[in-house]
Amino acid sequence: MAGIQTILVIDSGLGGLTVLREVVKARPDARYVYVADDAFFPYGHHDEDEIVARVVPLVGDLIARHAPDLIVIACNTMSVSVLAPLRATYSVPFVGTVPAIKPACAASTTKRVSVLGTRATVKREYTQGLIRDHAQACTVTLVGAANLASLAEDALRGKPISDADIFGEIAPCFVPATEAHGRTDAVVLACTHYPLLLNRLIALAPWPVAWIDPAPAIARRVVDLLGPDSNDVHDYPPEMIFTSGRTHALADVLAPFFGGRVPA
Ligand code: DGL
Repeated sequence: MAGIQTILVIDSGLGGLTVLREVVKARPDARYVYVADDAFFPYGHHDEDEIVARVVPLVGDLIARHAPDLIVIACNTMSVSVLAPLRATYSVPFVGTVPAIKPACAASTTKRVSVLGTRATVKREYTQGLIRDHAQACTVTLVGAANLASLAEDALRGKPISDADIFGEIAPCFVPATEAHGRTDAVVLACTHYPLLLNRLIALAPWPVAWIDPAPAIARRVVDLLGPDSNDVHDYPPEMIFTSGRTHALADVLAPFFGGRVPA
């Protein structure tokens, strides 16, 4: 087998697995390194300067150690804060995850869209710029969730989390109709942790909406940059790294995100 490609996927925690899952489906032949910067979790509670100071050297170390062919920043908070400095510093191609405002606005018939992200993501100038450039005729409601990423991590680890706690975080996304406009009909999942809770979000929504997850578009972008699946089969187990140094004890839960392979 010639030239196996290494794809490094990084998030603040386990949310980036929802992006990894789609990338692995598109490129099962690649070797994967998944990095959870859990020593700095949650990113949504840090300001932009702190995230830049943390991520630029961390990614430099990861490039030196793993020589990836491409890096997926599978975290909206990280992408809207540090994608530009990363691209300016390193020559490896980066694929970011940024709020999917354009497709959400295109999908909305009521022209009322909500963006559900971390408090940091909804505050960032990058996100404001996406709204200015891509909201077209839509009114966009920004909803910064303080604890939803942590709740998603707990749920993946098998801890019970209450409907009331989830609903408290998502309720502001649902803007009811008035005489002047229709109700919200599309919600952007602007944090990669939230698709981990998708079934709960659908069940708790006061009315049906389109939940917009950018992961399939990110996988398509990876294929654009690296080329399609080579059909080569290899035995390298995917590698999973927690920056806190802890080891994971979730092999069965995590394997489906890695295309059925158990991460080492
Ligand atoms: N997964 C991250 C995102 O997409 C956020 C979680 C956190 O606050 O660390 O924004």
